[in-house]
Amino acid sequence: MKRVLILLTTILAITVQAQIPHDWENPAVLGINKLPYHATLQLPSKWKDCREIQSLDGQWQFHWSKDPKSRPVDFYKESYDVSGWDKITVPGNWQLQGFGRPIYVNMQYPFHRDRPSVTSEPNKDWYAYDHRNPVGSYVTFFDATKEMLSKNLILHFGGVHSAFYVWVNGQKVGYSQNSMSPAEFDITKYVCKGKNKLAVEVYRWSDGSYLECQDMWRLSGIFREVQLWVRPLVHIADYHVTAVPNKDFSQATVTADIAVCNMGKKKAKNVNVSFNIDGKILNSQFPILNSKDTVNITLTYLIINPKLWSAEKPNLYPYSIEVGDEHFDNQLGVKRVECVGEVFKINGKNVKLRGVNRHDHHPVTGRYVDDATYEEDLRLMKQANINFLRTSHYPDREYIYELCDRWGIYVMDEANQETHGYGYANRVMGEDIAWEKAHVDRAESLVKRDFNHPCVILWSLGNEGAVGPNIQAMYDKACQLDSTRLPFYDCHPRYSALHDFGYPTPDVLKAEAEKETEKPLIAREYAHAMGNSMGNFQEYWDVIYADSSIAGAAIWDWVDQGLLKKDGDKEYWAYGGDFGDKPNDGPFCINGLIGPDRKPHPHYYEVQHVYQPLQFVRETDGTIRIINHDSFTAPSEYEIARDTMTIDGETTLTVSARLKGDKPWAKKGFVVASEQFVLQSYQFPKVPLLSGGDGGRLITIDGNSLTSWIVDGKEMLVAPLEPYFWKPENDNQHAAQFAQRTAVWRNASDVTVKYTVINERQILVDVDYKPSGNDNPVMPKFGMHMRIPADYTIIEYYGRGPWENYPDRKRSAFLGRYMMPLSEFETEYIHPQDNGNRCDVRWCNIGNGKRTLRIDGLQPLCIRAWDYGEEDLETAKHPHDILRGRFVNLNIDLNIHGVGGVDTWGQRTLPQYTIDGNQPHHYSFILEWQ
Ligand code: GAL
Ligand code: MG
Repeated sequence: MKRVLILLTTILAITVQAQIPHDWENPAVLGINKLPYHATLQLPSKWKDCREIQSLDGQWQFHWSKDPKSRPVDFYKESYDVSGWDKITVPGNWQLQGFGRPIYVNMQYPFHRDRPSVTSEPNKDWYAYDHRNPVGSYVTFFDATKEMLSKNLILHFGGVHSAFYVWVNGQKVGYSQNSMSPAEFDITKYVCKGKNKLAVEVYRWSDGSYLECQDMWRLSGIFREVQLWVRPLVHIADYHVTAVPNKDFSQATVTADIAVCNMGKKKAKNVNVSFNIDGKILNSQFPILNSKDTVNITLTYLIINPKLWSAEKPNLYPYSIEVGDEHFDNQLGVKRVECVGEVFKINGKNVKLRGVNRHDHHPVTGRYVDDATYEEDLRLMKQANINFLRTSHYPDREYIYELCDRWGIYVMDEANQETHGYGYANRVMGEDIAWEKAHVDRAESLVKRDFNHPCVILWSLGNEGAVGPNIQAMYDKACQLDSTRLPFYDCHPRYSALHDFGYPTPDVLKAEAEKETEKPLIAREYAHAMGNSMGNFQEYWDVIYADSSIAGAAIWDWVDQGLLKKDGDKEYWAYGGDFGDKPNDGPFCINGLIGPDRKPHPHYYEVQHVYQPLQFVRETDGTIRIINHDSFTAPSEYEIARDTMTIDGETTLTVSARLKGDKPWAKKGFVVASEQFVLQSYQFPKVPLLSGGDGGRLITIDGNSLTSWIVDGKEMLVAPLEPYFWKPENDNQHAAQFAQRTAVWRNASDVTVKYTVINERQILVDVDYKPSGNDNPVMPKFGMHMRIPADYTIIEYYGRGPWENYPDRKRSAFLGRYMMPLSEFETEYIHPQDNGNRCDVRWCNIGNGKRTLRIDGLQPLCIRAWDYGEEDLETAKHPHDILRGRFVNLNIDLNIHGVGGVDTWGQRTLPQYTIDGNQPHHYSFILEWQ
């Protein structure tokens, strides 16, 4: 009987639970008492000085619980004492302030997939097993004056991950999810004079997390600003401004659609609304505005001969909107975005989108990125000639859009919608009607908030999400809310004005564009910039510029998502797994053009070069032809400079285009485009006609190896000079199984090395390879290596630089004479891998301040120099794992396998940048101790 009873109560408990699911495990509840989404009312750069806004950011009281069961249920009550709690910085992520663990996963959910539940039992070794939805309880206090109580008080959260409840003075205000969009609540009736208690309870995961399966660190908490808006009872609820040019751009119709509400208990009379633009004041008046009513008014204005907005010429018209004593500033841009057949156009021109994807990531504050970092990112983007930003994979903080408006960057603004854990273009989430509202909510919050930003050209419905009616509903919503921008979606062209094709090779991109005849083609992601990568970048742009139906492409991605981690005295950039996070996807989040600290990687400069708006071509008669890839800027707007340089008899000409004046992102004189031409070629030394001395006892040759070389009584070889055809993998090569495919080259043999001893300090090395058989794999490199004493750390060379370059990524690295310490010659990748090559080296000196080893190629060389060995690199997970300083490892090669530039999950380096193992190879160089 007792057992039956227990069973009964269990069943009862289960059914009760099933009847009332948690709001955070219920896709029908997206918010409780949440105010409607609206446009950013005030320019973000003016928030600090805005009368209406009180910032609640700062140190809050905080308590972290590993699951909902163990949370302090009553903490929101006024009587609950939180004075002993920890402190946390708001905005911020709690995992980066000592509470719980960050988790990096790409495609899967970090909790057990069982929608809408986020607390079902996962694998035992997952972090989520013991941490079945951690909860952060936040408390802060704010003061209210008597005057404030007569106003309308709105609590604003810029972004909270992933779902949260709000209480003021012990009373429940509401609930919200949809983590990357603002949530607002009217708290007027809960606020009292003097000190007020604000309590926020945040759940790490919610049903909303099913739509937030983006490839990124999964972090939680109140990570964007919290504000208290103190507003007149009659105020601006929302406004949307469009500026639509006519057919020939001779005029533009500006339409301001302004919503005004009366939150007071009484009717308001003679409410004045004004729209100030272009020095004109447009007015309207509501004689009566009823209590709790919202009314819309539309004011229009015609701009004659408008200055158009584009990324090249970001012309803005400042305007303001006033209702009573409320005044907000903003700016509009006149532009047209359209697809004409298969051609994508901005302001009537076939603009090319030279793009990049960017996660909102900071190595210390995680998902909160401060204004200065936004400015730094945009400065670096503009300097790299990037004109297109995809806010992958969710709306960023408002300020970045204002910068894009002002500095000129086209933006694909993306909805916070990715259900990759159910598969790319899955039907499950797209067809389950219970999830329709949740999908639409994310399109609506996106378009409504960012509507007024001229920089937005495309509304993306999300990334790697579903297909089906729920996506159709998102599409319909976006189109209904805005007809002045185009909708985009990657998973099916049905929901998109442009056809997306991700990660094509240059050839596939060309073929796809030819196949698609109805819509423009875009590669929303391409050129996976993970680790030492970005080969064959020019090849993409040769294809894109040649086909007017390709709108452009966006690199994956902008910044390495490394997090600063301190382990004892070690400080490093952490990636997946470094926090004991399970499951995790290791270093797959380290894909940036710049490091977490915003330091450009070598491949950043290749992007800058290939994306340059002007291309210089030297004709056979010596004249320079300029090809202009921009649409609204003439080459004459730059100062064109020509510099010739002669080094060791070789003369080069560098043509460059420089800024004639300061820009917000670069100073006058900044080089926007450049190209180098060789006018008079280098004369490589000829084989010395010396019979060859024997070097006496000072030089020992053993077969193919030079095993000992004594100079001034000292052994200069820490390890022999010998043929060596191996190089460690880089990230791109790993999934392409490079090491397995080329394993035979680890111990190369089919080679003849001839040493000619010129004198005790100088030898000629000649390497000859004749293939045996015809099914040899490609060679990692063709050359030799040796190890010399560890103090040879000063490098000077004449070749391509100054930054690292490889055969498929060397266009930005001009020939020059460069000098640097070994530490700068190497590139320290967050995930250690092959690095540091310099191509087309004529000669290279490596010294210790007293003595120098001189290397002269009899043809161009590839050189790599490290203070560690291949074996040290191949076993290290982080730079600090690399055992350094026992020797200097020199690779002196004829050629090296390219880095690859398509993806990091199988594509190989393009054949023209590989070394055929079935062909003979031959090269020579001279070594001399000076
Ligand atoms: C893409 C995806 C990105 C990222 C990338 C690999 O397919 O959209 O979010 O995961 O692959 O780094
Ligand atoms: Mg994904």
